[in-house]
Amino acid sequence: MNALTSAHQLVPISSPAMRAFRVTRIVNESSIIKSFWLKPQSEETLNFVPGEYLVFEVPAGPNGETLKREYSISGSTDEQLRVSIKLEESPNGTTYPDGLVSTYFHKSLKENDVVCAFGPTGKFLLDRNSDRPVVLLSGGVGQTPLIAMAHDLAQRGTCQTQIIHACENGEVHALRDELVALCEAADNLDVHFVYRTPTQNDKTNKRFDSEGVVTKALLQTLLPVDDYTFYLCGPGPFMQAMFELLLELGIAEERINYEFFGPATVLKRSGTNATQSETKRDSVMATSNDTQPIVKFGKSGIEVAWDPSLENLLDFAEEHGLMPDFSCRAGTCDSCKTKLLSGETEYISEPMERPAGDDILICCSAPTKNITLDL
Ligand SMILES: Cc1cc2nc3c(=O)[nH]c(=O)nc-3n(C[C@H](O)[C@H](O)[C@H](O)COP(=O)(O)OP(=O)(O)OC[C@H]3O[C@@H](n4cnc5c(N)ncnc54)[C@H](O)[C@@H]3O)c2cc1C
Ligand code: FES
Repeated sequence: MNALTSAHQLVPISSPAMRAFRVTRIVNESSIIKSFWLKPQSEETLNFVPGEYLVFEVPAGPNGETLKREYSISGSTDEQLRVSIKLEESPNGTTYPDGLVSTYFHKSLKENDVVCAFGPTGKFLLDRNSDRPVVLLSGGVGQTPLIAMAHDLAQRGTCQTQIIHACENGEVHALRDELVALCEAADNLDVHFVYRTPTQNDKTNKRFDSEGVVTKALLQTLLPVDDYTFYLCGPGPFMQAMFELLLELGIAEERINYEFFGPATVLKRSGTNATQSETKRDSVMATSNDTQPIVKFGKSGIEVAWDPSLENLLDFAEEHGLMPDFSCRAGTCDSCKTKLLSGETEYISEPMERPAGDDILICCSAPTKNITLDL
């Protein structure tokens, strides 16, 4: 057990990359979302790029076993980070248990407890070097990384920023007043709230700007010029719908940055989702060359030269029609763990914890010699 373990600490620190945080404050933000303010237990400067998340390990399993979940940083002070967590209830009409870790945060975690987390980490990052206008487009609890971005953009004051947030109604809408105050204080930020089913109270108190869902016409009205960088986060169907609307409006794909709060899927134009048999299977055995290591996928019998323009072996396997398990694509969840049957690889970004033995995390590895993977 790590020396940092204290009377309040809920799981021992399992890897050197993990940190202990004390929960200094818990705030009810809406009927379903609570914020947790976290202060690191060690003396250190808190650096994070808006968009990053923490990976928590908490004893939330049915028998108290440790589970890992990612939560985006929604705000910060010099000394503390904030995460805002939605209580994931079981889907209507099912008997599934409520979400394990979100229930743990909402119902078991108390102020002054200590939790362990890895990070800040992630690839969905605000480009702080650009002065291009920005659109922050969120659905539901997908607003959390975008709120951290909004604070940063307000502080810098250089990028014109349009925030568009869609949710059910004012009862579930978290951090509304914080965002309104931020936009009132900053000349470069505007916000537009879209409620699908506003309550009478929302209507009486004019708590929203549009009723319904985000449409092409709304985006055309709110976004008069077309040189924005978009940051998109929300439930899967919302993300796919917004992605398609933006493409219809002529936005270039490379201007659309996004994060999924589940498996880190790649958004595609509708009708272009390639199936396993439609992808590069045709190029099997085709492309060995002298300069790049050969990657052999043992189970599938595919053998191809490594393509250094791809970020990692997970992308490479998908490019060749395989569908390995994945979730975070960032070295934190272990879902992509694969046996390296022969050869050598390197970690191009350090994962949260390197797996033992011959296993590697293919989402953050590349080959350095010819390899065979158990895929
Ligand atoms: C990069 C990233 C950032 C994220 N940031 C945030 C954030 O800022 N805020 C936030 O709230 N969330 C965030 N998430 C989501 C978060 O990590 C969790 O996925 C979420 O809280 C659900 O976890 P859980 O343990 O509560 O639910 P789980 O236990 O994983 O359950 C999820 C859902 O499945 C249902 N379920 C249970 N059993 C079954 C079954 N047998 N079949 C079908 N359904 C079942 C549950 O009722 C629940 O609704 C983020 C995710 C990622 C990847
Ligand atoms: S997909 Fe999560 S560690 Fe690789």
